[in-house]
Amino acid sequence: MIRSTRILLIDPRHPEPDRIAEAAKILREGGLVAFPTETVYGLGANALSTEAVEGIFRAKGRPTTNPLIVHLASLQQWSSVAAEFPEAARQLADAFWPGPLTLVLPKSAAIPLIVTAGGPTVAVRIPRHPVAFALLEAVGLPIAAPSANRSTELSPTRAEHVFESLGGRIDLILDAGPTTAGIESTVVDVTTHPPRLLRPGPIAPSELEAYLGPMLLPGQMVPTAEEPIRSPGLSARHYAPRTPLELVDDVECAAARFPGNVGELWAIVARAEEVPELPQGIRIVTMPNDSAGFASRLYDVLHELDHAGLERILVIAPPPNEEWLAVRDRLRRAATDHG
Ligand code: TXA
Ligand code: MG
Repeated sequence: MIRSTRILLIDPRHPEPDRIAEAAKILREGGLVAFPTETVYGLGANALSTEAVEGIFRAKGRPTTNPLIVHLASLQQWSSVAAEFPEAARQLADAFWPGPLTLVLPKSAAIPLIVTAGGPTVAVRIPRHPVAFALLEAVGLPIAAPSANRSTELSPTRAEHVFESLGGRIDLILDAGPTTAGIESTVVDVTTHPPRLLRPGPIAPSELEAYLGPMLLPGQMVPTAEEPIRSPGLSARHYAPRTPLELVDDVECAAARFPGNVGELWAIVARAEEVPELPQGIRIVTMPNDSAGFASRLYDVLHELDHAGLERILVIAPPPNEEWLAVRDRLRRAATDHG
């Protein structure tokens, strides 16, 4: 179905109440509204309405086997989405909500099965962005919201990215400028013992383990017949640009990858402290040296390079330590050749 998509500018810190009210009305009436969170833009619909949520899957072209995150304005609403709020979840919620953390909990009967892809658990997040908070509060309903992009494409960190991907398919985009964290929330399943990190994100494993004790990390989860894949978002090809992207270990590998005459058709993405000396003409994108700064810029840079008509994007992989877990995870998914 073709819809005309409106874009409404909104103040990221002090969102205008009349604009929030307009977006909230669309959500209450079953429509689709893209809004900023501190991680990426989300595509929201009333999580209590099967019909509204079906609209999300249609607009994104997302397989209905991939469940959605439900967003709340405050912890007081938890019982409208979850059947239980285990002690471990309580501790994480106290420490990290509102924020870039998603908790997988036992679902309540009120949440339609389409939200959870038929499963018994529901993913829940209370975001920190003032626009997300104002909107959720004004609607007064739990809002299902995946990242606001067509399925398998890069997540959006700006309203322009949302429009490019979903323009003509959704009702409204609240444009509050670029998001800050830049990569999707950390997802933790607290329904299992030990708890499992399903998707690394802005909150690092050690920060969670301070409350939870040891968790199972993504590499430690073995798919079984009963439980083929715990979080569909963990499947390899996801969050990818269209231009082939190659991850290389270091500056020497990057230099060695350049055949002659690639001219302006290749780009290299490197942290400031490791920018290589390369032949003239090759486009070099310099990234912040710290992981939070790198994450904040990552999708924006990939969106931009994807428009440059390049043949190949080379990224120098950041160090294989915990600090870089989430960024390395997204880079691996964006890379063309999966090991
Ligand atoms: O930062 C974010 O998390 C953004 C903003 C909008 O909140 N949302 C987001 O949603 O990235 P999405 O749909 O692109 O990714 C949600 C991830 C997927 O990997 C999905 O498989 C997983 O969460 N997920 C959702 N419900 C789940 C459940 N019940 N059990 C396990 N994994 C779940
Ligand atoms: Mg997504």
